[in-house]
Amino acid sequence: MDHESLRHFADSWGLAALVTLFVAIVIYVMRPKGKKHYREAAEIPLKDDAEAPARRDKGHHRSLPETDAVTGQTMTGHSWDGIRELNTPLPRWWLWTFYATILFSIIYMILYPAVPLISKATGGVLGYTERGALQEELAAAEAAQATQIERIAAASLQEIPADPDLLRFAVAGGRSAFAVNCSQCHGSGGQGAMGFPNLNDDEWLWGGTLDEIQATIAHGIRYEPDPDTRQNAMPAFGRDGLLTRSQIHDLTAYVLSLSDRTAERGDVAAGEALFADNCAACHGADGGGIRELGAPALGNAIWLYGGDEQSVFNTIYSARNGVMPAWQQRLDPVTIKQLTLFVHTLGGGE
Ligand code: HEC
Ligand code: HEC
Repeated sequence: MDHESLRHFADSWGLAALVTLFVAIVIYVMRPKGKKHYREAAEIPLKDDAEAPARRDKGHHRSLPETDAVTGQTMTGHSWDGIRELNTPLPRWWLWTFYATILFSIIYMILYPAVPLISKATGGVLGYTERGALQEELAAAEAAQATQIERIAAASLQEIPADPDLLRFAVAGGRSAFAVNCSQCHGSGGQGAMGFPNLNDDEWLWGGTLDEIQATIAHGIRYEPDPDTRQNAMPAFGRDGLLTRSQIHDLTAYVLSLSDRTAERGDVAAGEALFADNCAACHGADGGGIRELGAPALGNAIWLYGGDEQSVFNTIYSARNGVMPAWQQRLDPVTIKQLTLFVHTLGGGE
C-alpha cells in the first residue's frame, strides 16, 4: 500500500469505520457484566489445580508468594496443568517510559491538531496549523525583503546595476518570476524554442537595452489589448497572393545566400531584386534586420522559425508574427524591473 492510497483511505469513510469498530470493541469489553466474565475465565485453571487452594484466599488475595527452587524467583500463583508462572514483572524504567509516552501523547493531543474527525481533525488548544506556520514564514520573508523591494521601486533601471547587492537581489527575484511566468514559452533557462526567441544571445528582435527589454515585457508583442504593444506584421506574401510561388522560391534562394547557402530551387539574382522591392523596408537593404520593426537579421545562423529551405519558404509564404502577452496588468512594476534585469544579465544585454 503506497502513501497515496493510504491518504485516500484516510480521507474516505474507511478510517471512520475503523474508529467505530475500535470504539465498539472497547465498549464491549467494558460492559458491566464483562469484567465478571473475564475474572471467572481467569480462575478456571486455578480451580483445577490441586495444589492451589491451600495458597489461596477468597477472590484475588493470595497468601505470601511461593519461591521457585531453581531460579529463586517468586511465583505469581498461576498454574496451568502443573506449569507454574514465575513473577517477572517488566523493569521499572521500561514501565515508566511507557507511561511517559502515554502522558506525552495525551498532552500532545490536547495541544495540537490530532484526532481525525470526518471533515478535519480536532484543532488543539494552541491553535497551531502548518498553513498558519507557513503564512508566518512567508510574512517574515516578505518583511525581510521589503527594504530591497522599496529600493528597486525607487531606483531607475540604470541605477540598479551600479549597486551589486541590489542587482543580485533583483536578478534573483527576476529568476523566480521568470520560472513562474515566462519559462513555459521561453524555456527554463530562457533558451527559447521554435517561435520563441532565445533570450541568452545578443540577437534581439526588438532590442536588448534595459529600456527596450522593459518595454517588450510590459506591453507585449502584437498583443491587441495593449495599445502600446510592439506592433509590426510581416505580410503573408504567398497566402495573400502578393507574390507567386516561384517568386517566393527566388526569395528563399536569396535569403539562403545571405548565409552562404544554396537553395535547390529559385534564382538568387531574381530574389535579390524582389527583396529590395518587398522586404528591405523591414529587414534592411542587406537583410541585416531593423530592430524598431522587430524584423530579424536574415544573414546569420539564428532562426526563430527555422533556417532550412522549406521553413524559410513557409515563413515568406504565410508569415508568422509571433505574439507575446503584455505583463504590466499581471505583474507589479517591481517584478517587471526584476525580470528586465534578469533577462538583461542572461548574456545578451546591451
Ligand atoms: C505565451 C508565450 C510567451 C510568454 C508566456 C512569454 N513570452 Fe516573451 N515572447 C514570446 C514570443 C512569441 C516572442 C517573440 C515575439 C516575436 O516574434 O516578435 C517573445 C519575445 C520576448 C522578448 C523579446 C526578445 C527580442 O529578441 O527582442 C522578451 C525580452 C521576452 N519575450 C521576455 C519575456 C518575459 C520576461 C516573459 C515573462 C514575464 C515572457 N517573455 C513570457 C512568447 C512568450
Ligand atoms: C512589414 C515588415 C516586413 C516585411 C515587408 C517583411 N518582413 Fe519578414 N519579418 C518581419 C517581422 C516583424 C518578422 C519577425 C516575425 C516574428 O517575430 O514572429 C519577420 C520574419 C521573417 C523571417 C523569419 C526569420 C527567422 O528568424 O525565422 C523571414 C525568413 C523573413 N521575415 C523574410 C522576409 C522576406 C523574404 C520578405 C520579403 C518578401 C519579408 N520578410 C518582408 C517583418 C517584415
